[in-house]
Amino acid sequence: MKKSKFVVEGLAGQKKLAGRIRVGGAKNAVLKALAASVLFDDAVTLDNVPEIEDVARMKELLVAAGAQVEGNTVVPPSEWDPSLDQSIAGKLRASIVMTGPMLARMGRVCFPLPGGDVIGDRPIDLFVAGFRAMGATVEIDDHQYTVIAPEGGLQGADIFFPFVSVTATETLMMCAILAHGTTTLGNAAIEPEIIALAEYLASCGAKITGIGTPTLYIEGLGRGKLLHAEGQVFMTPPDRIETGSFVLFGALAGAEVVVEHCNPKHVEAFLQLMKQAGVDFTVGPDSITVRGKSTPYQAVSVRTHEYPGFATDTQAPMAVFLSQCDGESTILETIFDGRFRYADDLVRMGADILVMNPHKILIRGSRALVGRDMESLDIRAGLAYLLAATVAEGTSNIDNAYIIDRGYEHIEQRLQGLGLNIQRVEEE
Ligand code: EPU
Repeated sequence: MKKSKFVVEGLAGQKKLAGRIRVGGAKNAVLKALAASVLFDDAVTLDNVPEIEDVARMKELLVAAGAQVEGNTVVPPSEWDPSLDQSIAGKLRASIVMTGPMLARMGRVCFPLPGGDVIGDRPIDLFVAGFRAMGATVEIDDHQYTVIAPEGGLQGADIFFPFVSVTATETLMMCAILAHGTTTLGNAAIEPEIIALAEYLASCGAKITGIGTPTLYIEGLGRGKLLHAEGQVFMTPPDRIETGSFVLFGALAGAEVVVEHCNPKHVEAFLQLMKQAGVDFTVGPDSITVRGKSTPYQAVSVRTHEYPGFATDTQAPMAVFLSQCDGESTILETIFDGRFRYADDLVRMGADILVMNPHKILIRGSRALVGRDMESLDIRAGLAYLLAATVAEGTSNIDNAYIIDRGYEHIEQRLQGLGLNIQRVEEE
């Protein structure tokens, strides 16, 4: 595959973008629903699926394990291969979520330490502890994990997470569906993507209560039993990270931008900060309309948090926004410890950002930005660079478009739809 980059002609702070931009289905919901197909005895069909690289990788992982994937339908094999493809799993953090259903269904699973963005240490100790609590043995040999369920299948267990984890909640919830007896997951994550997954699984025969609360109770069906979709389609909820990011495009570069097909209730913490900063927006049932202001916004302080708090995945584009606010802002990143790598590039563009420690930055604004050449570091930092390039004066080249394509469908086409001069160019 040829590498490509994005070339953006900056608007030099002018508020010119106008029109409607459609939010796609949530990456972090659809990847888990694909993994969940391992729990089924019939085909699982997904709707509102974004055409992004991570979805393509997840489908490849399912095919490598024996499934047939036709469009957005996964047809399960009679026997799955419980050894996850190393090269694919090594690229994708979400691959870890397949380990739960695979262990529950096949009685064993082998996998490498999952890959994904380099945004800090991303261990899997919670998964290992959960599998062990359900009676499995876990062997680790040269970065390869082999997990084996006891004879007769996994046993339900009381599991309390010492801290909240999205993928550990999803993985152990799916594991517990085919275990014997009841599993309690305490201090579980309550992200909307998890609720959508749990509700779908419950509609297909899983016995889960407490959905949407921090305590999930799962009455296992027992090994050998499976879920049945019977034609029920998984409807991917709108991507709340895209929603927030597009609102930021509207605030910094929009005359009037309508962010549509979103769920504004999923971004309440974010919208509170937008209001505090003085952004002019109105909220409809499934849209947010933003009107950019010619005067600078006011600095606000951000603290990332598990849902319903401010999402860590919106943190990087928010830093670009704060660089355009009057006054001093701070961002306290409480989830990951390596998520400020983008700061150096923004500083080179003219932003005033001081990295105080791996969890905190200080931003002084507002500062005019100047276009430059950058390389996407991770999915969300990549999007932040597109936003910074849009606001800046001059041309920016953002290398490694693949990283952005992992999480955002045809981003250049959608931004072109608002009037931005952004091109995808194949690199030599
Ligand atoms: N953690 C551990 N041990 C574990 C599991 C997690 O120490 O066994 C730590 C993590 O290192 C992190 C914290 O717990 O410091 C919380 O991480 P969590 O497990 O919730 O993150 P994740 O499940 O790896 C998902 C999303 C991320 C998103 C976070 C937080 C997927 C595939 N990824 O990651 O999305 O930032 O939740 O909301 O669902 C992205 O989409 O760009 C992305 C990074």
